[in-house]
Amino acid sequence: MEEIIVNFDKYIDNKDKHLSKYDSLKSLYNADPDSSISMWVADMDFNSPQSVLDAMEREVRHGVFGYYGSHHSYLEAVKGWMKKRHNWDISMDWCSVVHGVNSGIGMGLRAFSEPGDEIIVFSPIYYSFYLTIKNNNRIAKEIPLSVKNQQYELDFEGLEKKLSGKEKILIFSSPHNPGGKVWSKKDLKKLAEFCIKKGIFIFMDEIHHDLTYRDKSHLTFLKAAPEAEEITLVFTAATKSFNIAGCHTGTTIIPDRKLHKIYDEEHKAFGKTPNRFGMIMTEAAYNGGETWLNELMKYLDKNRKDFSDGLKNIKNLNLFNLESTYLAWVDCSALHINEDQLKKLFVQDAKVVPSFGYNFGKTGKNFVRLNLACRNEILKMAVDRIKNTFS
Ligand SMILES: Cc1ncc(COP(=O)(O)O)c(C=O)c1O
Repeated sequence: MEEIIVNFDKYIDNKDKHLSKYDSLKSLYNADPDSSISMWVADMDFNSPQSVLDAMEREVRHGVFGYYGSHHSYLEAVKGWMKKRHNWDISMDWCSVVHGVNSGIGMGLRAFSEPGDEIIVFSPIYYSFYLTIKNNNRIAKEIPLSVKNQQYELDFEGLEKKLSGKEKILIFSSPHNPGGKVWSKKDLKKLAEFCIKKGIFIFMDEIHHDLTYRDKSHLTFLKAAPEAEEITLVFTAATKSFNIAGCHTGTTIIPDRKLHKIYDEEHKAFGKTPNRFGMIMTEAAYNGGETWLNELMKYLDKNRKDFSDGLKNIKNLNLFNLESTYLAWVDCSALHINEDQLKKLFVQDAKVVPSFGYNFGKTGKNFVRLNLACRNEILKMAVDRIKNTFS
């Protein structure tokens, strides 16, 4: 079937549509929703692939929205996608359908650790990891990433000495949010080696795995380090790739039977019935959204270039190399100002609303993360506003 390609330049009025990105501008940032450019939360301003819109239309036309039944076609779509896009052969019975990656990780924390246990995260890291850890009464152990050539590196030097022995799980984002780093096979293997040696479970969050540019491709963790299969849970979803975050559906992939059984017990305790719309959207995205995704990445690549060109000449804003995702990570420490001043400059003066780095851990202080998944016209406007404020 011929796929209709979305015009990413199309104007869509996203205000008053129950989108967190716009609805929360006032309450979270005290920003004026009418004049601000919202670049904080990680979803996109675009329509989802036509295959998703068509599937939802068919669903609405049918008009019966009962509990979702056989998972077979969903799991086939997940399996097909992992093979086609990531050359990863998975089995359908490794998969658990969960209400999103955060929810899947929360269940995993309960299944594989106890209250008071320590959970390792390499900082800076996606802020919800801290919240999920804290809300489950576990303790986040922040290990700083080191910086080289405007990107993060894993630093195992001296790491063992920092361990208390209470560490049970390591949560990792591959590719990395917020830095956009695509981890190498060497990095992933070292990580596996470390966790195997220490008996620490690996929660590998690969939600950003499809959002890579032509110059760097993502390597699925268990393909890079199959030796870690007995300690690894992989968390995936189609939600970031196809802009369907609101459907809150993801797939936890656990090849090891013993681990899968433990996870499944916890899953049962929470209720396993999936969200009908999430199942339909995800399946439609995996089966019919690939051309759209390829086009999206070309569009985002242009945004990435325009953003990076725009920021090049602003002396004290240092952009990290964006190897994947649409989340630009900008080091503002050379401005030598405090967080309140940084907030004022972005939100009140430039009227560009980023996520502020301190939420991503101690190492995120004086950074901002800006979401580039908007119309190119808006992106250029944001660049101009930043230039006018910071140059
Ligand atoms: C690394 C990472 N994991 C998980 C999520 C959220 O996943 P979900 O909406 O499925 O809970 C995000 C969203 O930004 C993310 O960046």
